[in-house]
Formats: sequence, structure tokens, C-alpha cells
Amino acid sequence: MAVGIAIPTHLLRMYRKESQFPVFPIQNLEDDELRRIRIACAFLFSPDHAKDDLFLKNLRLEHVTKAFREKAKRYHPDLHRHEPKDMLEKRKERFIKIRASYDTLKNYFPPEDSHESGDHAVFSRRIIAVGGAKGGIGKSIFAANLGILLSSAGHRTVLVDLDLGGANLHLYLGTTALPSCINDFLSKRIPRLEDVMISTRYGPHLIGGDSSQFGAANISFATKMKLLRSLKQIDADYIILDLGGDTSYNIVDFFLSADTGIVMATCDPAAYLEAYNFIKVALYRKLNRLFGEESDLGLEKDAELANLITRLTRPNGSDRLANIMELRDRIRQEQPRNLFLINQLLRSFRPKLVLNMVEDQSNTDSVVWRIREVAEKMLCTKVDFVGSLPFETEIKRSARDLVPAVSRAPRGFYSMSLNHIARTAGFEIQNP
Ligand SMILES: Nc1ncnc2c1ncn2[C@@H]1O[C@H](COP(=O)(O)OP(=O)(O)OP(=O)(O)O)[C@@H](O)[C@H]1O
Ligand SMILES: [Mg+2]
Repeated sequence: MAVGIAIPTHLLRMYRKESQFPVFPIQNLEDDELRRIRIACAFLFSPDHAKDDLFLKNLRLEHVTKAFREKAKRYHPDLHRHEPKDMLEKRKERFIKIRASYDTLKNYFPPEDSHESGDHAVFSRRIIAVGGAKGGIGKSIFAANLGILLSSAGHRTVLVDLDLGGANLHLYLGTTALPSCINDFLSKRIPRLEDVMISTRYGPHLIGGDSSQFGAANISFATKMKLLRSLKQIDADYIILDLGGDTSYNIVDFFLSADTGIVMATCDPAAYLEAYNFIKVALYRKLNRLFGEESDLGLEKDAELANLITRLTRPNGSDRLANIMELRDRIRQEQPRNLFLINQLLRSFRPKLVLNMVEDQSNTDSVVWRIREVAEKMLCTKVDFVGSLPFETEIKRSARDLVPAVSRAPRGFYSMSLNHIARTAGFEIQNP
């Protein structure tokens, strides 16, 4: 019986090259996995398609995406806002299943092919979170300039300062005074998140923050959930979340809520170690919240699986699990029914790494290699390196003069590198 569930990318590519057909190698799948795939196909296509092995074998990403788009148009609640509440609820329930089915099937195709193909085209909304190492490594400057770049490419872009304890994103967009900010929404002074949004002179809209307000960073779980829901409803093409540099639950949950999570580091050992830790904490949090309300899987809690996860993420005593590899082995032996679920979760966690303030390009390879190697070994996680940004004194000047680098020097090294990163990460912009 085939054991490996994750189908290596090179194998998929090989299949694709050597044959017209077997893009979807159902013969390699375990029974339980195949059953879930059939359920997903029943939702996205039809029950008859789901039973048809020939259909499955010939399944391609473009079919999956097309079916998702069609079904999403029919069921996405945002596209039927004016319907009665009970109808909307039904659509929502159905849409959650369709979305989960799409995610299930999409993960069987190589990431470069499956690249965010469906959702963005359908809803024109993609959330990007920028997190990683702490303390002045350039996350906010990167977020601000990326926002300007996307906005100048014609996308409706909103930047959100979610560094609630150290908000300064507005400064990097040339704005010194905020008429309203996210704190007004969090404290319910302004009911709708979109009403605290302002326009900036460089293109993107901004939801800024004010960390001088007492207790600004200490929001409750309920407030966080409300904020996450509101973020997902902002009407924009790109929503960029600038995160604080720590691994508190709030920051990590914001990171996990995004479609694309960018982790920033520099080549300094302290910074890349922190970036790795950020990735680890985010993954552990994702595992811990598998049955939480923010998980879009909507699963019933499985107490045995929850218990194994706790032994990894919050060990208490001698029965601790050492790493994700061990967790997966234990699940394979003791709860094979959950193996597919865990593999899905691991596959769907694909942080993108950016190195900033690079002075010597020859250093980046070993740093990237280290982060990727350890993440793969210890966390069973693939980290995509999407590029590096140079150390430039001009950036310091930009930060001081409140003029963003991509506006001051659109063809400078920093701007060109940013453009390259944005394209590598799959954001829709043209070659400079
Ligand atoms: N590529 C770069 N070259 C030179 N200096 C840079 C570069 N990127 C950022 N900086 C400098 O780093 C400082 C901090 O940047 P930024 O505020 O974006 O960091 P951060 O990671 O968001 O920090 P925090 O975790 O505190 O929010 C900036 O004022 C700027 O001077
Ligand atoms: Mg910052």
C-alpha cells in the first residue's frame, strides 16, 4: 500500500511531462484520502464526477479553479448581500464547504501552478501579512513600499497597521496625523473598520494605528475575531497587514489569517533565528487552533488528535512530542484517520521568506538554506524564499524624510528588488 501522502513536486512535474493524463495520481492515495477527495469533487463538480475514476485521473488545476469560480459566484455571501439572512446563512455554509473542497484539491498540484489561482480572480481580494523578526528589521517600510507598488500597478490596495503596540506605518506613507485609526474601531467609537480608512498621497489607503493609547495592544479574543472578520470584508484587491515583531497570539493570528504570509529577516543570526521561531510559533498556533472558530475547516473537535497536538505544542511532563515529524508518525500509527488532515494543514502552511538589509549577496544563500532546512526537518514546512532587499542609506533617509523609497527612487536598487520580490511572490505587477 502506498504510504506517502504528499506527492513530491518533481514527481508531479514528471507525470505532467511524460503523459497527457495522469496529473492526479489517484493510484498513490490511501483509501481515506481518496474518500475525502471524492467528497471534495462532489461539492465542486457533482456526485457522479466524484465516483468516476477516469474523471479524477484527468483532473487538472484549471478544472478545479474553474469549478470553484463558478460555484463561488453562486454561493459566496458577499456576492448576495441583499438576500434575506437565512438564505445568506445557507449560502455561507455551502460556500465554506466549497472553499474547503477547493483547498483540498488545490493542494495536490505544484505550488507554482496552483498559485492562489482561484480566490483572487473571483473576489479580487488577497490578504498579505508581513511579520517575522522583531525590532527594526524593515517590516513596516517593506509593507508600505509594497502597498505603493501594488497601488501604482492599478490595484486597490489597503495597508493596515496591526502593530497595535508600536504603530508607525502611517509615517512611512508620509502621514503624520491620523484623523481616525484602528483604535477607534477596536474601542467601538467607530463601528465600521472601513470608516477609519484614509487615503494617502502615495496611492494606497491606510488603516493606521495609535499605540500611544493606553492598552492599545491588549485586545480581547472577541475583539480580535471581530477585527479579523472585518478585515476579510474590506473591498480591495490587496490588503497588506503590517505586524508587530513578536510572537504573541494576536500577531500570530493576524499572520495566519492572511492568504500570503511574508516572514522577514536579515542575515544576522539573531534575526534569522527569530524569523524561524516566528514560523514555528505560527505553525504551532495553527495546529492548536485547528478546531477553533477562526479555522475555516469548521471541524468537530477530535479529542485524541487535540491531545496529541497539545503534547507537542504545550508539553507538560514526560510524554512530550519532540517535533512535527514525531507528531505525524504518532498520528500515522495511532490515528490514521487524521493523517490526511494533518498533511493538509502542513501543506497549506507556506510562509514566504524575504531577507532585508543585505549588504553582501553571497551571505543570503547560506541563511536561506539554514532556515529552509530546519523548517523542513523540524516543522515539515516548506519555506519559499522570494528575494532579498539591499541595505541602503537612502532607505534610512526615506524613513527620516517620510518619503517612501519607491516614490523617491522608483528605479533604485531597493525598488527594483521589491518589484522582483512582488512578482516572485505572485502579486500582479508588471516588470519595471
Ligand atoms: N533596506 C534597508 N536599508 C537600510 N535601512 C533600512 C532598510 N530597511 C529598513 N531600514 C531601517 O530600519 C528602520 C526600521 O524599519 P521598520 O520600522 O520598517 O522596522 P520594523 O521591522 O517594522 O520594526 P518593528 O518591529 O519595530 O515594527 C527604518 O527606520 C530604516 O531606517
Ligand atoms: Mg514595524
